[in-house]
Amino acid sequence: MGGDGKVYTLAEVSQHTTNQDCWIVIDGKVYDVTKFLDDHPGGDEVILTSTGKDATDDFEDVGHSSTAKAMLDEYYVGDIDTATVPAKTKFVPPPSPKQTESNQSKSSDFLVKILQFLVPLLILGLALGVRSYTKTPSSS
Ligand code: HEM
Repeated sequence: MGGDGKVYTLAEVSQHTTNQDCWIVIDGKVYDVTKFLDDHPGGDEVILTSTGKDATDDFEDVGHSSTAKAMLDEYYVGDIDTATVPAKTKFVPPPSPKQTESNQSKSSDFLVKILQFLVPLLILGLALGVRSYTKTPSSS
């Protein structure tokens, strides 16, 4: 089956998602794998769940043999219009607890420094206050 240089949108490819009519997209190419579904060693279910999207990762993740890759040619029907395929979403991890922790610890560091400065002053002030209250007038 030749591709005839046809370019399909993802919406068009997404019309073929059943076991009677199944297209998948791998590496920018569109394959009509309807006839292969029954022969797929991994079963038809896995292929059907990879329809209507870019199945490149699904296909690669399985670690298909070079024989499996070579089989693709047979089912090639055209190319995908890459503009219609959503860009792969990149995983952006939330700020790690370490970062927020370090922000918090920065402000608590500051508090500790102030307290280290104030507490001795308070004790000194208290001691002086107590002393001046309890001081017996010196006999002179
Ligand atoms: C036209 C596309 C595909 C072809 C020609 C194909 C071909 C093959 C072949 C020949 C095998 C046997 C092992 C090997 O030689 O690597 C296999 C296994 C397998 N395939 Fe595919 N495959 C296709 C698509 C997919 C897709 C989209 C998935 C989805 C995840 C998939 C999942 C699997 C799994 C899970 C196995 C392992 C089965 C097992 O070890 O029991 N395949 N495939």
